[in-house]
Amino acid sequence: MNVDEAPETAARYGVQSIALFLVIRDGEVEAGILGARPRAALESAVEAALKSPTAPASGARAPSHRARERLTPDEGRGECADARHVARWPGAGMPGKRFCDLFGLELPLVQAPMAGAQDHELAIAVAGAGGLGSIPCAMLSPEGIREQVRLFRARTARPVNLNFFCHDPPAGDPAREAAWRALLRPYFVDLGLDPEAVAPTPPRVPFDATLCGLVEELRPEVVSFHFGLPAPALLDRVRATGAKVLSSATTVAEARALAERGCAAIIAQGAEAGGHRGTFLARGDDSSQPGTLALVPQVVDAVAVPVIAAGGIADARGVAAAFTLGAAAVQVGTAYLRCPDARVSPVHRAALAAARDDATRLTNIFTGRHARGIENRLMRELGATRSDVPGFPLAAGSLAPLRARAEARGSGDFSPLWAGQAAPLARDIGAGELTRRLIREAGELLRGLAEEATRLSPALPAPIAAYFAGVARRDSGAMLAPFDTDATVKDEERERRGHQAIREWMEETARKYRYTVDVVAVAPAPGGATVTSRVAGTFPGSPVELDYAFTLDRDGAKIVRLEIS
Ligand SMILES: Cc1cc2nc3c(=O)[nH]c(=O)nc-3n(C[C@H](O)[C@H](O)[C@H](O)COP(=O)(O)O)c2cc1C
Repeated sequence: MNVDEAPETAARYGVQSIALFLVIRDGEVEAGILGARPRAALESAVEAALKSPTAPASGARAPSHRARERLTPDEGRGECADARHVARWPGAGMPGKRFCDLFGLELPLVQAPMAGAQDHELAIAVAGAGGLGSIPCAMLSPEGIREQVRLFRARTARPVNLNFFCHDPPAGDPAREAAWRALLRPYFVDLGLDPEAVAPTPPRVPFDATLCGLVEELRPEVVSFHFGLPAPALLDRVRATGAKVLSSATTVAEARALAERGCAAIIAQGAEAGGHRGTFLARGDDSSQPGTLALVPQVVDAVAVPVIAAGGIADARGVAAAFTLGAAAVQVGTAYLRCPDARVSPVHRAALAAARDDATRLTNIFTGRHARGIENRLMRELGATRSDVPGFPLAAGSLAPLRARAEARGSGDFSPLWAGQAAPLARDIGAGELTRRLIREAGELLRGLAEEATRLSPALPAPIAAYFAGVARRDSGAMLAPFDTDATVKDEERERRGHQAIREWMEETARKYRYTVDVVAVAPAPGGATVTSRVAGTFPGSPVELDYAFTLDRDGAKIVRLEIS
């Protein structure tokens, strides 16, 4: 079948004019076919298609990685049919770049704030490499926070993220606390400690008016929260400073709740993540929470703001996977704990270096809330999750003397050894180098995978994906293949002119968009005619081949089937 057969078949099956177009606009690829009678209707329909936003009329964002087809015969006029295939491909529209633009970053990477395990040094190293450096404030006094920000600002002009907790302060429960102390008593005796001993514990104060005043004073570019968001009045004050607000979601419902309250981006924290679960809606059985691979795409589908994937991302493969899942950025915690820039205790560092894939568990016995850490003696002997633990963060206070004594003896038996499931992937390298490597190598991986993707799905997606992931710049192009197969006039001259029109169009398209239409054929099909078309060409750096087959009804006014192979 070739183009020469088109007019005759069209005559037999009443196909009149069709147009093929491809629009790439802001990350969405829309391949469309229009069929119409008469030709004038087609031209105006094509015009409208090229002007219309790629996203569907509802304004809903096309779900990542899921192609949608719509078939909209224009019943009103009865003379124009429109079939489109709209898709967002991995990396489409460069959500990572948009994230960087939004947050003033070079790299789409957030260094996870890790209270008790890092200070400004880690944040400076990551910021220097182009990521977002974070200072965890949950365990600092206001003066401590002020000093951390001063040190950060003295060394870099890059944006900084201040991170706060938003838990409900626990109501004191003396009976529960006494029972907890009694449970720990044998350990105090074992370590030669007075069972009534107390040790200073850093506060874990929820975000309040004082801390809000500090945000107003220090004006961080980003403020992130864990365990939800503060009360509306405080949140409004934070936003009024111009800070972009982030928070973690452990479920889709939490992500929606955060989006509704105006977060600039949402951290999707998968179950693999080290440290505390950011849970704020569903409490109780955290074992039901989804892992990163399952959570991220569901959150991407549920909210319109950028999604930051967190949990188990410790090397470039994880970063590449996160982008493929539709994330705009990654938040990495555990991988930074082995960097010399982190402030990790020697026992914690040793445990991280020895950790295997199954070393961690969720536990609530160290603080009263669920967090992921490397299993140690206390977790083994008391059980990782208990219902009699004092409320967050009180449990930590009773353990402090045990922890201090054990650590002084080089033991992590009573320490929270926070770490995520990807701990074995972490390496002892500088945080700046790690940051650059994570993103650069992820880019290389994605480029390499584009070839495989072409093999798996040799049509539009892979090359387009490569285009957006690699050479990438925002682009928009359209090709239009109107050819008139009006066979009501069957003279040779008409046929010649028809073919000439196609060829001219092909040449023009090739010049303009570096595309050619290699084959255009019209063949009889049940109830109408099938048009097959192959488009081949080159986006910068990537070859593209696109095969279409679509079936028009007998009148040529309605597309009844569209296949993009
Ligand atoms: C040692 C440690 C401390 C953490 N402390 C905080 C914190 O203070 N605030 C916060 O929002 N998240 C905290 N997190 C959770 C991280 O923000 C993030 O969700 C997690 O590190 C991502 O998973 P990954 O550790 O597998 O990279 C902590 C994580 C770790 C490992």
